[in-house]
Amino acid sequence: MDKLVIEGGKPLSGTIVIQGAKNAALPILAACMLVEGKVTIDQVPKLLDIDVMLNILRELGCRAEHEDQTVLLDTSSLHSSHIPEALMRQMRSSIFLMGPLLARFGEVTIYQPGGCAIGERKIDLHLSGLQALGAEIEEDGSRIACYAKKLRGAEIHLDFPSVGATENIMMAAVLAEGLTTISNAAREPEIQDLQHFLNRMGAKIIGAGTDTITVEGVERLTPCNYQVIPDRIVTGTVMVAAAATRGQVTLLNTCPSHLTSLIHVLRRTGVQIAVDGDIIKVGTASRPKSIDRIVTSPYPAFPTDLQSQIMVLLALADGVSIMKETIFEGRFKHVDELARMGADIRVDLSSAIVRGVSRLYGATVEATDLRAGAALVIAGLAAQGKTVVEQVHHIDRGYDRIEEMLGRLGARITRFSPITNNTIVP
Ligand code: UD1
Repeated sequence: MDKLVIEGGKPLSGTIVIQGAKNAALPILAACMLVEGKVTIDQVPKLLDIDVMLNILRELGCRAEHEDQTVLLDTSSLHSSHIPEALMRQMRSSIFLMGPLLARFGEVTIYQPGGCAIGERKIDLHLSGLQALGAEIEEDGSRIACYAKKLRGAEIHLDFPSVGATENIMMAAVLAEGLTTISNAAREPEIQDLQHFLNRMGAKIIGAGTDTITVEGVERLTPCNYQVIPDRIVTGTVMVAAAATRGQVTLLNTCPSHLTSLIHVLRRTGVQIAVDGDIIKVGTASRPKSIDRIVTSPYPAFPTDLQSQIMVLLALADGVSIMKETIFEGRFKHVDELARMGADIRVDLSSAIVRGVSRLYGATVEATDLRAGAALVIAGLAAQGKTVVEQVHHIDRGYDRIEEMLGRLGARITRFSPITNNTIVP
C-alpha cells in the first residue's frame, strides 16, 4: 500500500484548480444507464471510486472510457442488470445503480454493500422508496433482487434526508408512470446536479435543493453532454489545509455557495476568506481561535465529510472546541491518529472535545477512511517534522493525486509506492 511522506511546517501558498465532484459524478454515471446511446460527462476526476464505477458499467455491457477528465459512455450494448458481488463490495456507491437499472430492465440484482469504516450505512430507505414505486424486493442473505414490470409514481416521505436514497428514488422515478413526490428529501448540491443532468436528458424534475422533489415520469430520455460541478469537499479540504498551515491560497473552479457553513466556521476561527465568483482566497498568519460547538448535519449545515479536516484546525486552536457528529456513528477514527501527533482530543459518544495545542508533531499514522486520511495529510502539513500517512488508497478514493495537488501549493509531500519500490515526487 502506498504511503505519503510529508515534511511539515511550511505554509501553503499559490493557486489551485479544484477537481470535479466525486459525489456528483458517481450518481450521474449511474443515471446514464437510464438512456440508450452515447453520453459524455466532463470534469470527472480520476479516482479509485470512479474506476470501480466504470468497471461495473463495463461488466454490465457498457462501453466506457475515461480520458483526462472526460468520461465517454456508450450504453447501447448494456445487457445485464446483475451487479457482481465482488464489484458491489468494492464501493458502496454501486447502490446508485439500483434505481436506473430497475427502471431500464424491470429487474436488478445487487448485494448488500455492507457496513464500512465510518458506520453501519443501511439501505432501508433506498429499498422502501423503490417499493413505494411498485418494486417487489426479494432478499436472500446479502443478495437483493428487485422486480417491477412498470414503476408507478408515488408519494414518498423519507424518515431521514438520505443523499443516496433521494438520488436513487429520483433516478427510478424518471421513467415511472405518473408523478412522484419525495418529501424530506436531502438538499445537497450533488442532488441539484443530478436533477440538472437528468433534465438535460429530457426528465421532468423540479425541487432539488429543497426538501420536496417532484418527478413527472417520461417515456424515454435522450443522450447528452454534461459537466459535473466542482468538488465542495476537496475545496473545503484545501481551504482548511491553507488555514492550518497559516498560508495564502487561491482556489479556482469552486462553488462558494456550496460551502457557506465552512466559510462561516473558518471566519469564526479568524481565517480571512474572500469570494469572487468561482474563486475563493483563503489566508491567515495567526493561530486559529477555538469554536465552542460545531454540529454536522444534512446540507446546508456543516458537512460530515469536512468534520475530520476541521478538527485538525481546532486541534491547533487557542482554546477548547466541541465537535458533534450526527450523521455517521464511526467517524472519529482520526482522533487516535491525531493524538499520536500531539493533539489533545477526547471522544464522548458522538462528541469530540478538542483542547487546542500550540503545535503538532510528525508521526507515522494510518488513514482509516477517505476523509480521515485527508485530515491526517492536513495535520502532517501543519506539524513540525516528518509525518508518514499509511493506507493512502483510502485517500485516492476521493482526491485525484493529493500529493500533486498539494505539491503545487508548495507542500513537501512525496508518495512512496512499494509495488514499484519508487518514490513518486510531484
Ligand atoms: C453521501 C455521500 C457521503 C456523505 C453522506 C452524508 C456520496 C457518494 N456519498 O453518502 O460522502 O458523507 O452522503 O452527507 O454521495 N441511512 C439509513 N438508511 C438508508 C440510507 C442512509 O439509515 O437507507 C443513514 C446512514 O446510515 C447515515 C445517514 O443516513 O447515518 C446518512 O446517509 P446518506 O445521506 O444516505 O449518505 P450516503 O448517500 O451514503
